[in-house]
Amino acid sequence: MRVRILVALCASIILSVTAQKRYAILDNDWSSTAFTVPLMALDGGIDVLALTDCTGDTWQPQETLHALAILEIGNLSCIPVVPGATWPLLQTVERFQAWQSIHGPLVWQGAFALPNYTAEALGSDPTGGDPNRIVPSAFVEGFPTTKAVNTTNSANYMVEMVKKYPGQVSIYAAGPLTNVALAVRMDPTFAENAKELVIMGGYVDVELLQATGSLLMANLNSDINLIMDSEAANIALTAPFPNITIAGNVANQVMSTQSFLDQVIQVNNSYSNLMYKYYGTEFPFWDETAMALLIDPSINMNSTNVFVSVDTAYASPSYGNIHVYQKALAPPNTRSVQYVFQVNGTKLQDMIMHAVQYPPQVC
Ligand SMILES: *[C@@H]1O[C@H](CO)[C@@H](O)[C@H](O)[C@H]1NC(C)=O
Ligand SMILES: *[C@@H]1O[C@H](CO)[C@@H](O)[C@H](O)[C@H]1NC(C)=O
Ligand SMILES: *[C@@H]1O[C@H](CO)[C@@H](O)[C@H](O)[C@H]1NC(C)=O
Ligand SMILES: *[C@@H]1O[C@H](CO)[C@@H](O)[C@H](O)[C@H]1NC(C)=O
Ligand SMILES: *[C@@H]1O[C@H](CO)[C@@H](O)[C@H](O)[C@H]1NC(C)=O
Ligand SMILES: *[C@@H]1O[C@H](CO)[C@@H](O)[C@H](O)[C@H]1NC(C)=O
Ligand SMILES: *[C@@H]1O[C@H](CO)[C@@H](O)[C@H](O)[C@H]1NC(C)=O
Repeated sequence: MRVRILVALCASIILSVTAQKRYAILDNDWSSTAFTVPLMALDGGIDVLALTDCTGDTWQPQETLHALAILEIGNLSCIPVVPGATWPLLQTVERFQAWQSIHGPLVWQGAFALPNYTAEALGSDPTGGDPNRIVPSAFVEGFPTTKAVNTTNSANYMVEMVKKYPGQVSIYAAGPLTNVALAVRMDPTFAENAKELVIMGGYVDVELLQATGSLLMANLNSDINLIMDSEAANIALTAPFPNITIAGNVANQVMSTQSFLDQVIQVNNSYSNLMYKYYGTEFPFWDETAMALLIDPSINMNSTNVFVSVDTAYASPSYGNIHVYQKALAPPNTRSVQYVFQVNGTKLQDMIMHAVQYPPQVC
């Protein structure tokens, strides 16, 4: 009798642990120092199903190799890298450059900047030109020896994993939303059966900062992730995910600082060493802010629920920017999202610090 109760108890504990298990697919435009994102997820107890990628800061084939490399240096190569879309749904380099010639340039143009082979030779990731070229000099983290998955693609993988673990898979997207949009369109049940969508990007009310601040300030307040694939962004942000969380303006709240980097390197491992040398102090913890919100919603100190759409009119100067509405005034086919204004910055820094100093061993 007692044994039977014990067995039942164990079974129910195992069941509830399994039921609470959280999975995530991390979609991003991966770079040499983007390891903070998967490390935070793993440190937060999340089962990372894959790193997926799409063209953003650089071309997707180069990012696939960065994703492989940043896993390899921490013995995390059991996490698959599933390549995503090389091209946005509609946008091209020529179309983007033509838009800029009418509406003015962006400081940071990501992969759609014209090629600069001098910069590439000095270690910059490729922009413009042939999207399939690989620039080995950009791999300060080491060139990967492992291989990406070649039997499926990001969008397909997202669909398959959400079918496998309904209600449990968070989709994290810190680059353009191309893969998410493809998954949404491929399978009408995908969005509603995912756990949530958490994105980096989606600034509101920042035009004056772009106009009156420095070029850096303009850069920090321009929405390259959404602009690079405006159509995909609109599809993703209007899809029926149970929850959508937008880390837009809040992603600029906490800057990387030298004192943070000095503290990170107090525990010297291959990740902290890379972060210390290459993360820099020019930009805020954009992608990390979105990841922190995914891991621990209690880090959210101030947010609101608004309806949202993305400007998809190519002729518009705000092409690729989001618009927010209250329910009564929202256009059809939009939905409410959680728009975050403020996070606990101390906690965010603690989460990044711990994940980088004590990289989880899951393989
Ligand atoms: C990865 O594994 C190698 C060999 O087992 C080990 O020397 C190294 O310290 C590990 N790296 C990390 C970041 O754990
Ligand atoms: C190309 O990159 C080099 C090295 O970073 C830089 O000095 C130069 O200004 C860049 N050229 C253009 C046209 O941006
Ligand atoms: C796919 O990947 C496997 C394992 O890395 C490799 O053996 C195979 O040659 C690849 N196939 C193609 C078509 O690249
Ligand atoms: C998530 O979505 C559910 C159902 O739509 C809603 O009740 C809940 O308040 C949302 N949570 C957050 C944090 O937005
Ligand atoms: C961290 O360790 C690496 C490899 O051992 C070393 O090259 C580097 O100088 C160390 N960094 C600091 C700040 O001590
Ligand atoms: C939350 O953020 C909004 C937008 O910045 C601000 O207007 C509001 O005062 C904030 N609320 C609190 C409680 O801080
Ligand atoms: C912010 O996070 C820190 C570190 O986790 C915690 O000590 C502090 O109480 C939090 N502040 C608020 C206002 O929740």
